[in-house]
Amino acid sequence: MNQLAIIEEVKGWVYEAGEKIKASFDDQLEIDTKSGRTDLVTDMDKATQDFLIEKIMAFDPSAKILGEENGQDHLQDVSGRVFIIDPIDGTMNFVLEQENFCIMLALYEDGVSQLGFVYNVMKDEFLYGGKETGVFCNGKPVTPPVNKSLSEGLVGMNQVMFQRNDWHTQEIGKIAMGVRMTGCAGYELIDLSLGRRVAYISRLAPWDYAPGGVLIEALGLTMSTIDGRALGLEEREIFLAGTQKAYDECLEIANS
Ligand code: IPD
Ligand code: CA
Ligand code: CA
Ligand code: CA
Repeated sequence: MNQLAIIEEVKGWVYEAGEKIKASFDDQLEIDTKSGRTDLVTDMDKATQDFLIEKIMAFDPSAKILGEENGQDHLQDVSGRVFIIDPIDGTMNFVLEQENFCIMLALYEDGVSQLGFVYNVMKDEFLYGGKETGVFCNGKPVTPPVNKSLSEGLVGMNQVMFQRNDWHTQEIGKIAMGVRMTGCAGYELIDLSLGRRVAYISRLAPWDYAPGGVLIEALGLTMSTIDGRALGLEEREIFLAGTQKAYDECLEIANS
């Protein structure tokens, strides 16, 4: 099956999952905490991941899964086809705002990224694609963003990192036109893909950065750990992405 056909298949699952999430607004949410007071998980996070895995298994029973919820957050072996799932990215926003959250999936083959899917459900903004197919936003090809410098645009940041001035993030923020903290990695990586941000810095797990990462790399943007190492799929990392110019500037300031 070629990549365009896989895109059509996965898009169908994601739209269906989005409808289920919207329908759930009428129901009482079950909310639990994970590592602390602000680390939330709901029954909809878990149900959405289960729903997507059911679709993946019907599509390819040999595919492997790396997903944030339900104890599926580790994978020893990334050979073959791997789907990486963040069923609701921005759970806090989902619970408190009922907007600004994304459904996200990435497809890897033998450890190499192939396709990414990031759907901002309430904005109905869906970016998907990869290097081979190009990137699309709601069916229209996305043009690679202009290579702007840090001083020419907005930078997305993780709130805690910014408050603590980790990796000189406050200095980076001062040079930019402004700092935005949306609490949703998918939101930020859509904005970076569409030229609404010049850079994004946060502490992220593979399911937070892999789906949007496929898109931004296909669009000629750059990403790595904050100290310039390649991103693996193993653990949480301090993530830096941007236009080449803004990325270079952030990397230099962060490591100064
Ligand atoms: C979180 C969001 C947030 C980022 C956190 C993630 P979740 O994802 O992407 O923007 O700062 O590190 O954990 O838990 O809501 O899927
Ligand atoms: Ca979470
Ligand atoms: Ca996430
Ligand atoms: Ca999540």
